[in-house]
Amino acid sequence: MTRTAPLPPNSTIGIFGGGQLGRMTALAAARLGYRCHVFTPERDSPAEQVCAGATIAPYDDRQALDRFAAEVQVVTSEFENVSADALRHLAKRVPVRPGPEVLAIAQDRIKEKTFCNSVGAPTTLFHAVRGPQDVARALADLGAPAVLKTARMGYDGKGQVKLDRDARPDEAWRAMKADEGIVEAWVAFEREISVIVARGVDGAMLAYPAVENRHRHHILDETIAPAPIPAQVAAEADRLARLLAEKLDVVGLLAVEMFVAREGAVLVNEIAPRPHNSGHWTIDACLTSQFEQCVRAVAGLPLGSVAHVPAVMKNLIGDEAETWLELLKDPTAKLHLYGKAEARPGRKMGHVTWVNKAP
Ligand SMILES: Nc1ncnc2c1ncn2[C@@H]1O[C@H](COP(=O)(O)OP(=O)(O)O)[C@@H](O)[C@H]1O
Ligand SMILES: [Mg+2]
Repeated sequence: MTRTAPLPPNSTIGIFGGGQLGRMTALAAARLGYRCHVFTPERDSPAEQVCAGATIAPYDDRQALDRFAAEVQVVTSEFENVSADALRHLAKRVPVRPGPEVLAIAQDRIKEKTFCNSVGAPTTLFHAVRGPQDVARALADLGAPAVLKTARMGYDGKGQVKLDRDARPDEAWRAMKADEGIVEAWVAFEREISVIVARGVDGAMLAYPAVENRHRHHILDETIAPAPIPAQVAAEADRLARLLAEKLDVVGLLAVEMFVAREGAVLVNEIAPRPHNSGHWTIDACLTSQFEQCVRAVAGLPLGSVAHVPAVMKNLIGDEAETWLELLKDPTAKLHLYGKAEARPGRKMGHVTWVNKAP
């Protein structure tokens, strides 16, 4: 369904997925006078705690999807590891922004990198693989090191196996635990950056500055905003993010993760059609946060200014969140906790942002 008129106040925005991205989107929506209704299989999720309504059901439950569609005026998702068919089903009943076909590309690493290359956005070289023999062939072509990843459902480094010179293709295939994968040439990157671009129903775009992302154990640890990179590298990252948002016809947000290779070349690594962890700094350091911008874009409102001050965002992973009181003793630390009861290792429990702080 398409509709371009701005969503009036007191309308209900449907959020597909119940995590912290949904929670922060709902908080921003409330400020603009909207209600949110979340669809999630989980009870007491971070988003449900702050939403006006919830449908608790498996993502592929058609009747529950119909009930959800009847409650909301537009749907946006906060999570991409759901079937694109669920979103296609919803899209027959209510506008889904970004649309199901964007999700279908973003959730499959082979489709994602093939699409990027087809519109002129460079990525590392890669091969689609369906078994150990394909892995051996890919490795012979690309050379070591390389990385084998599941085509779908991977996140935070899960489902990835590094292939060194002496890697055994059969062992790597078994370790990946999936029936379709991608082998990517290793990028000896200088740093990792990302750009989040918002695109409205009218095609207008605004992008946040490129930020640097530092990972620990494959999970985002710190974001430095803006990234300390030369202006021409930042401009290239901005160009690529806008190019992809435009070619994908995104309405909402598109986050684009990129590598800055040693020679200064920018390669696209991943895209996500939703708010992104590397944009959390915008809540405290930007005139319009990525969550408010997402709401504005999907609700058909004008986009807000991305004027900002520099900031550093640190994720609180697992038991790092236990330091919350210590962190609050610094009156300039902006603490965000997501309402998750159990601090499992590797779980994103919250984050803290310092504005105007040098990294
Ligand atoms: N081809 C590659 N070359 C070098 N490092 C990589 C490559 N692919 C992934 N990585 C590293 O692993 C991290 C996670 O991989 P990514 O493709 O972003 O998957 P996800 O975030 O979905 O787990 C990246 O942020 C990067 O640090
Ligand atoms: Mg990633």
